[in-house]
Amino acid sequence: MKELSLNILDIAQNSLAAGASRVEIALREDASGRLTLTIRDNGRGMDEETVRRVTDPFYTTRTTRKVGLGLPLLKLAAEQTGGTMEIISSQTPPAGTTVTAVFDTAHIDFTPLGDIVSTVCNLIQGSPSVDFLFTHETPRGSVELSTAEMREMLGDVPLDSYEVLAWVRDYLNEQYAQWS
Ligand SMILES: Nc1ncnc2c1ncn2[C@@H]1O[C@H](COP(=O)(O)OP(=O)(O)OP(=O)(O)O)[C@@H](O)[C@H]1O
Ligand SMILES: [Mg+2]
Repeated sequence: MKELSLNILDIAQNSLAAGASRVEIALREDASGRLTLTIRDNGRGMDEETVRRVTDPFYTTRTTRKVGLGLPLLKLAAEQTGGTMEIISSQTPPAGTTVTAVFDTAHIDFTPLGDIVSTVCNLIQGSPSVDFLFTHETPRGSVELSTAEMREMLGDVPLDSYEVLAWVRDYLNEQYAQWS
């Protein structure tokens, strides 16, 4: 994939497909250019065999298509920079899955993050009742958005209304614009 934000969209969609009501997307970049992506959900989780085989592109529980590519592509994107991908998942309460990928952003094969603001907006638009927590921390600045907090402020206004989505986009863009 040309943009890491598209990989992130894919992995977060797995969380939604697993029935998650809460999805955390965290990007943490340190001064040496090491980027850690964490996607954590409270969905139904995977059994051990699935976790073991899930990074193999010929394994999927889907019946409509034989090949699942979300996790294998993220793994490839991380490993081609000398990084790693790890999955921790539980089906017994508190069930959920955490996918962690580490990238070297200075590596020539690092896939640029791309349009992460659109990824976050697309997720909210597609699943307005899910609690999304997005954080992006770097030495240059940080960005945060919590749809659970927004929902408290907005009351009955649905998060997938045009006005709210436009506000979310502006809010994220403004935070990014403040980075040095
Ligand atoms: N967060 C998650 N919670 C529960 N199960 C998951 C999660 N992520 C992945 N899985 C399981 O792992 C399988 C493989 O995921 P992957 O994203 O690689 O492929 P896919 O979703 O099946 O297909 P694609 O992403 O190409 O549309 C999924 O079909 C699902 O069974
Ligand atoms: Mg998938």
